[in-house]
Amino acid sequence: MSFFWSSWITVLSLGCWLFIFGVLMWTLKSKPVLEEDGTTGHEYDGIREYDKPLPKWWLVIFFGTMIWGLGYFVLFPSIQPDSWKGITTVEVDGEQVPWTSENELNSQLQANNKVFIESFEGILATAGAEGAVPVLAKLNALDAEQRTSEKPADVQSKIDEQLKALAPFVDKLANDPEAQKVGNRLFLQNCALCHGSNAKGSLGYPDLTDNDWLYGGEADNILTSIHNGRVGAMPEQQGVLGESGVRAVAEYVLSLSGNQNGYELNQEQVNQGKTIFDTTCTMCHGQDGKGMQAVGAPNLTDDIWLFGGDRETIQTTVRHGRSGVMPEWATKLGNERVMLLAAYVRSLSQNPAE
Ligand code: HEC
Ligand code: HEC
Repeated sequence: MSFFWSSWITVLSLGCWLFIFGVLMWTLKSKPVLEEDGTTGHEYDGIREYDKPLPKWWLVIFFGTMIWGLGYFVLFPSIQPDSWKGITTVEVDGEQVPWTSENELNSQLQANNKVFIESFEGILATAGAEGAVPVLAKLNALDAEQRTSEKPADVQSKIDEQLKALAPFVDKLANDPEAQKVGNRLFLQNCALCHGSNAKGSLGYPDLTDNDWLYGGEADNILTSIHNGRVGAMPEQQGVLGESGVRAVAEYVLSLSGNQNGYELNQEQVNQGKTIFDTTCTMCHGQDGKGMQAVGAPNLTDDIWLFGGDRETIQTTVRHGRSGVMPEWATKLGNERVMLLAAYVRSLSQNPAE
């Protein structure tokens, strides 16, 4: 918290405490001069005011709450961030550190993670995938190296190597019911908002249950998608081809896909579009338009569309380009969870591990 806000809170809480304490002491001390009949002489609508001492039980409770309040000042960082850290501590990274809400959160996350790792190792053992442990350790070390490296791209190839080495264990986990259960829960928490709770995706977000993969459906492809993240790079073509070129090549794509919408195709545009496709699009979508998993370029000849297969949507895609973003998860979830998620996604596809 900033200096200003901690001071603000210190002044408010401590000031308030001192003020109430002062008022209480003052009322206890002050003895008004009384009339002969024992009243203070104040009268309103025929009601006259006695001066009686505050009831004992009330005072006890009042002082009790004030001492209770002091207890909080002692236990927690209450006076300026650096003046008093409080005597409460929590364990972070195996060390006792003064309480702050952030330290408490980290402490609980670490305690939770310890339980998770233990049960994760149990799952690896039942699935016969203990061999993953040393690979995971290497991968974790490389991830940490990459985060602090000045040339993160240099570490990437080593990371990808470890992801490949991890893939066979993902296949083992994909057949393990307990791993699938945990993977499903992780999926619902982290992935469902984009890919849907049934993983069937929606426009712009790929279906993970079919056999049509942007980047490949083998364990190491899936693991890489989740660990590294992916960015689709379909370049905009309007500047290159002009509007008539865009329409022509879109017409050709419609013809490739078997024209599922039953449009009346403009054959002249189709022919013109084929020429454009062969020079501009094949480097990513392939000679036959069946896509290329190395760059995440989708198959344009099937009936599965990431963004939509009607004439207008295909034109929009070609006109302006597309750039779907799949975030990376290693930093946020850690490699153990990434592995469970990859196994879960693998188990969903129609081509599960043998
Ligand atoms: C912010 C939205 C978002 C979230 C959250 C998200 N994804 Fe994705 N994911 C995408 C997009 C978009 C793509 C396609 C990227 C592209 O267009 O190139 C994708 C692609 C993928 C692919 C590659 C599919 C293929 O056909 O090759 C996999 C596997 C995947 N996601 C798994 C996951 C998992 C597991 C999670 C949860 C940890 C997750 N995603 C969370 C948006 C998301
Ligand atoms: C640099 C590689 C590259 C080139 C060149 C390229 N594309 Fe793409 N295309 C992609 C990628 C990658 C995607 C997926 C985008 C995403 O996931 O966000 C894509 C997506 C598409 C889609 C959407 C498919 C769907 O399922 O909704 C269409 C249509 C398409 N491209 C047509 C074309 C045409 C026509 C050309 C040539 C004029 C072309 N592309 C050139 C890489 C390329």
